[in-house]
Amino acid sequence: MLRSVILAAARSDRVERLVETAPVSRDVVRRYVAGAAVDDALRISRDLVDQGLAVSLDYLGEDTTSPEQAEQTRQSYLELLAALSAAGLCPPTEVSIKLSALGQMFDEKLAYSYAREICQAATNAGTTVTVDMEDHTTTDSTLELLMQLRKDFPDTGAVLQAYLRRTEADCRELSGPGSRVRLCKGAYSEPESVAFQSRLDVDRSYVRCLNILMAGEGHPMIATHDPRLVSIAEDRVRWFDRTPDSYEFQMLYGIRPHEQRRLADAGHTMRIYVPYGVQWYGYLMRRLAERPANLTFFLRSLGTR
Ligand code: FDA
Repeated sequence: MLRSVILAAARSDRVERLVETAPVSRDVVRRYVAGAAVDDALRISRDLVDQGLAVSLDYLGEDTTSPEQAEQTRQSYLELLAALSAAGLCPPTEVSIKLSALGQMFDEKLAYSYAREICQAATNAGTTVTVDMEDHTTTDSTLELLMQLRKDFPDTGAVLQAYLRRTEADCRELSGPGSRVRLCKGAYSEPESVAFQSRLDVDRSYVRCLNILMAGEGHPMIATHDPRLVSIAEDRVRWFDRTPDSYEFQMLYGIRPHEQRRLADAGHTMRIYVPYGVQWYGYLMRRLAERPANLTFFLRSLGTR
């Protein structure tokens, strides 16, 4: 219930203005976001890479409604990739993009052409792109554009959300040779007609999808902080005889850092998804919805500055 309320607030311009203009403690945002500028993204990436972790950088922004905003997002990624390459961080740093930030909502062709440019820049820099998945109304369009991108950039990663009823079938479709697929639970508020509603059903779906991807010929990217699912995934790595370069674990910056270290120390590739930029509102609200206990911390900070 609280999760749905927070996710509804994530879509509200009024609440967004309220939260953004409130004296939100910088610590709350900093817990999940690297900072506002490319230099912050580079600094945090360097720090994580020096600790033996891989990184996926996300320039914050979504639901772009104007061509100017979409162009600005494209430009930011091109600058980011040039800076990462110059800093010698590609690989193990890649980038994650949201098609809605590139204009998918009002011009799919534009979003596709910008995504292509970003994939080309990533290839030139020696790294890859993963296309984030957003709410279910965009799933078909995102997967279609992803398949187009993969024709020229076969390393482009997909994201599948275990809470969607369709995802087992999508996993089968996307488990072919070399296919990079990030499997996550899903972060949006979705209706029962398309998504499992209970935690147990989502977790069961996650395991079914994980089994398909691990048995397949692709490169599964296991994106969860859930201790039970991590343990099941470690078991599947052994069961399917997966070599360390044929799969990876992924977690979000600021969440379970000790577990991130433990998995890396155990010999798994551990990639940290690091967002940066000033448009942190939607991202932060989804993180609060995942763990309503964080809300207390957040609300307290509203009153302490
Ligand atoms: P769950 O929410 O059950 O959390 C398990 C445990 O992890 C909690 O008990 C807690 O200890 C810890 N935890 C989880 N969230 C926390 C938080 N916010 N603060 C503090 N502790 C927390 N979703 C999506 O729809 N599209 C996408 O493209 C992506 N991309 C993506 C990339 C990566 C690398 C990750 C790790 C996740 C995503 N997600 C995503 C988000 C994902 O769908 C999901 O919402 C979150 O990962 C939370 O789900 P868990 O699997 O961690 O389980």
